[in-house]
Amino acid sequence: MRKIRKAVFPVAGLGSRFLPATKAQPKEMLPIVDKPLIQYAVEEAVEAGITEMVFITGRAKRAIEDHFDKAYELESELEAAGKQALLDLVRNVIPKNINCIYIRQQAALGLGHAVLCARPVIGDDPFAVLLADDLMDADEGYPSVMTQMTQLFEEEGGSVIAVQDVPREFTRQYGIVSGTPYKDRVEKMHGIVEKPMPDVAPSNLAVVGRYVLSGRIFNYLEKLGRGSGGEIQLTDGIAAMLKDYPVYAYRAAATRYDCGSKLGYLKASVALGMKHPETRDEFLEYLRSLKNV
Ligand code: G1P
Repeated sequence: MRKIRKAVFPVAGLGSRFLPATKAQPKEMLPIVDKPLIQYAVEEAVEAGITEMVFITGRAKRAIEDHFDKAYELESELEAAGKQALLDLVRNVIPKNINCIYIRQQAALGLGHAVLCARPVIGDDPFAVLLADDLMDADEGYPSVMTQMTQLFEEEGGSVIAVQDVPREFTRQYGIVSGTPYKDRVEKMHGIVEKPMPDVAPSNLAVVGRYVLSGRIFNYLEKLGRGSGGEIQLTDGIAAMLKDYPVYAYRAAATRYDCGSKLGYLKASVALGMKHPETRDEFLEYLRSLKNV
């Protein structure tokens, strides 16, 4: 079975749910504790053995390229000041064996279109897609969500989509899948629909921003017209592909934080602040002191 070596990060979106914070900076650069969201997603891919990071970027997203590049002035100043620990931190944002590739999506035509922009780099290979504003915090005892998914891909082939149960009233915010139980945490999918209203949603199993896709997806995406919200939807490409090739829905062992929303972002900051070695103890003490809020 082929290993997943390439990941696509669609980062051209406007971040309009998070204005004005995202007026002059990419939403993917918002930090949770001390790292930008995009770094969490890249680290998740690195842990899964992925080495080629393909960013589908757009205007006003330069900060992402700079973040994963060498920072000459900063590095020489830290070096001159003998601040070795900080220097290491800045230099090790990304391991040396990782390649970053940037493709500009010239028009905001949707997630399916963004993924299609990666075709010249991906070719026929199976690949991962990670949406950085979905921050996935793996459950205790489990590897990262992308590692969980590539393991399933190596066992089964096909394509793998991460899902979680959501309350029915929220189906209109997600791709919703239908399937039949296949094995532990896994359903064999027979349908997927983008943002259905609760009364017509086929289930309450929602797609949560992590995909392992067969390279065949491009053949379906290129034929699509505009779908929900007037956009070219990745969901519609998957819906077409699963009629011909197997797609598995995987219930990820993780908590998912929707960091594109204010509430999700706050929750992620609290959860990860309670785990970070530098903030953990004092932050917990502080939170306990708030118990009468
Ligand atoms: C996108 C996908 C949707 C998925 C969601 C997960 O929607 O189109 O199928 O459930 O990400 O976060 P968006 O949140 O970009 O509107």
